[in-house]
Amino acid sequence: MPTKVVIGLQWGDEGKGKVVDQLVHDWANVVVRYQGGPNAGHTIYNEEGKKFVTHALPSGVLKNECKNIIAKGCVINPISLHKEIKEFRATSEMLRISDMSPLILPHHVMIDKLKYQTKIGTTAKGIGPAYADYISRDNKIMLELCNCLDDVKNYSYNQLRKIAEFDVYSKDYFKSVFEKYAIENGFEVNVESENYIKDFMYNQYFPVLEELSEFYSDYIEDTDLLLQQYYNENRNIILEGAQGWGLDVWGRSYPNVTSSSPNIGGVLTYTGLNHKQIDEVIGVVKLYKSKVGSGSFRTEWVECDRTDEIRKALGEYGATTGRPRRLGWLDLDEVKSACQTNGIDSIVFTRVDSVALLDEFKFKLGNNIYEIDKWSINDPDDMQEDELIQRDIIYFVNLVKTNLGLKNIHLSYGKRRNQLKWNM
Ligand code: IMP
Repeated sequence: MPTKVVIGLQWGDEGKGKVVDQLVHDWANVVVRYQGGPNAGHTIYNEEGKKFVTHALPSGVLKNECKNIIAKGCVINPISLHKEIKEFRATSEMLRISDMSPLILPHHVMIDKLKYQTKIGTTAKGIGPAYADYISRDNKIMLELCNCLDDVKNYSYNQLRKIAEFDVYSKDYFKSVFEKYAIENGFEVNVESENYIKDFMYNQYFPVLEELSEFYSDYIEDTDLLLQQYYNENRNIILEGAQGWGLDVWGRSYPNVTSSSPNIGGVLTYTGLNHKQIDEVIGVVKLYKSKVGSGSFRTEWVECDRTDEIRKALGEYGATTGRPRRLGWLDLDEVKSACQTNGIDSIVFTRVDSVALLDEFKFKLGNNIYEIDKWSINDPDDMQEDELIQRDIIYFVNLVKTNLGLKNIHLSYGKRRNQLKWNM
């Protein structure tokens, strides 16, 4: 079984990073990130409990001999990815980047900050505007960053100037948002100067792009071909999405979605693999639900005095933006739809240990709300594998198997690597 896809079946933040890390550790030698960009945050803890957060990088960067691919379906902010590559010391041996990946340029981030951050509650990383520019066939790609830098510079400069000068936002509002953007990215700008956009581009942004153009030349290639080669060599390949089923741009939550497809269709479009080359699809579901950003959430908890306390105990704040996440009960009716869309073979339920931190354990199934007894755990910070064998957990697992038509359920019961029991 050389290819396994790991897909989040909720709204992102299901704990995919931990599941992928376990598979990488136990089995894989190739990890492919197939969609999204720096909007994601995958938190991984190693055996010693040391925490790592990846944003755009595939989760295989923690394993030396693993090959990592950023596929063409990912949008790339050349500056933030470069920082991440340095932080994880990801050499061009370990990491290959699609030469087709669309770029996230300053005007994309600015449009996101000016419009979509408020409208949709986006992460304001420029994701939607970069994909939109690609779909309208205007955007530039990694190959052009490396081989046609002048085109990228001209495009980037003209687009930024257009929104600064002609868009609907007042000039003062644009300047204040732009100043914040510059500071966040380590640039110095003087928005009071008449030519501040030109100064920024020519004196600050372009010199960085010039360095990065050279830097990425070692990293880019046709990753569709590379992946076919790895497949034919029978390597063990994991394909990981950045967000989840509920955020797919073609899902029913539109427009409160991200701008790419975490679902199985996206895997094929974004990587060049065909459907016969996918051997197993593993879904990841958290035992309660969380969501950042706007949009309906039918099992959401009514905020009460305890909500903040529980949110803190669960650590439910965005890994990328630090925003408090909205919380609610597990919705197995949604999970069932997500399984159908994706042809799910098995599910990993994550945060089994966290049920101990909740006041009660409820879930929605068949339009009913079930309430079952919370399981007891000696030390909620360090649940043991033998504690999984208890009445209420087994009842829950069997209920899911029967109602969702799945043979295999896996349980992740702690932060650390190896706190994951396959095939309950
Ligand atoms: P964007 O992807 O930044 O355009 O944001 C679109 C929507 O997806 C917003 O509601 C974000 O909060 C949400 N979103 C994007 N990335 C993630 C993620 O990794 N986890 C959870 N929600 C996300």
